[in-house]
Amino acid sequence: MKLPRRLLTPLLVVLSLAGCSKPSDSPSAPAAPPARAAKLKLGFLVKQAEEPWFQFEWKGAEKAGAQYGFEVIKLGVPDGEKVIAAIDNLAALGAKGFVICTPDVRLGPAITGKAKQAGLKVVAVDDQFIGADGKLMTDVPYLGMSASKIGESAGDSLATEMKRRHWPLDEVGVCVVTFDQLETIHQRTSGAVSALEAAGVPSARIFKTAQKTQDVPGSFDAATILLTQHPEIKRWLVCGGNDTAVLGAVRATEQRGLTADTVIGVGINGTDCIDELRRKPTGFFGSMLVSAPFEGFRTAELLYRWAKDGAAPPADTRTPGILITRDNFEQVLKKEGILP
Ligand code: GLA
Repeated sequence: MKLPRRLLTPLLVVLSLAGCSKPSDSPSAPAAPPARAAKLKLGFLVKQAEEPWFQFEWKGAEKAGAQYGFEVIKLGVPDGEKVIAAIDNLAALGAKGFVICTPDVRLGPAITGKAKQAGLKVVAVDDQFIGADGKLMTDVPYLGMSASKIGESAGDSLATEMKRRHWPLDEVGVCVVTFDQLETIHQRTSGAVSALEAAGVPSARIFKTAQKTQDVPGSFDAATILLTQHPEIKRWLVCGGNDTAVLGAVRATEQRGLTADTVIGVGINGTDCIDELRRKPTGFFGSMLVSAPFEGFRTAELLYRWAKDGAAPPADTRTPGILITRDNFEQVLKKEGILP
């Protein structure tokens, strides 16, 4: 069939807008079916892919991807080199942006500079970037937990359980495992300390000890140093920036012969202590659960709307926490969609 020129011109415009090849070479051949529109791609980069917390964030992001029809490219970025390589990869794949929990908050300016060059939008999750001036980079959209409040709740829970057990205050010490390079962790542990002081624990009995690495061995080492310095303390309350901080410290107390009767630990995250809570009672009493799937879902959703419609995310979004213990964790984690 030969089309009159008058009809052919508008048809060519429509076909080329739809991404089809021009039919002018063989005007009689049937037009190729329009290529299916490629899905929008977004990266989700995390500093510790082995930590359940981050795996649950990825799950949440994928749920948003399935709901809105975008693809999530999940990448573990344990150091600065990997972050830069990941941004190059995302750009090569034609991604429009990424959510990131950076392995080092001081990489903030390098990450935003590189992303800008590559035309990628950036949302920071969990760990807020630090600028060249040493201040938090509040111009990059951020979503993270209400750190001080959640830390206070961890401290309150420790005090309540200590009082319930009628522990004499003069036998108690508090082991605070911290990682102050991260503002969010600093706020969490400071919140716990303030709540314990408000509940009557003397400051002289509260000891901070710093993790060199943010994992169980890092907190085991940090706590061991402290326990060795205080052999006179027979009962310990343990808090820290997240579950692994408290788990490592509880393992260190066990190494010194302390048990669930003489140690009360409350973590933060609620995702990295599930196996622990399934075990017979240990010094790890409970955790402040924050919804990692929600954080993953929401950051990915905000980034998607930004990339697709230009709707910039709010500058700062905070998420709440609730206490889980051996008594209620299965039920609460199911309700939150963390356990099936
Ligand atoms: C930090 C911690 C993680 C988790 C997130 C939650 O990144 O390292 O374990 O607590 O914060 O915001």
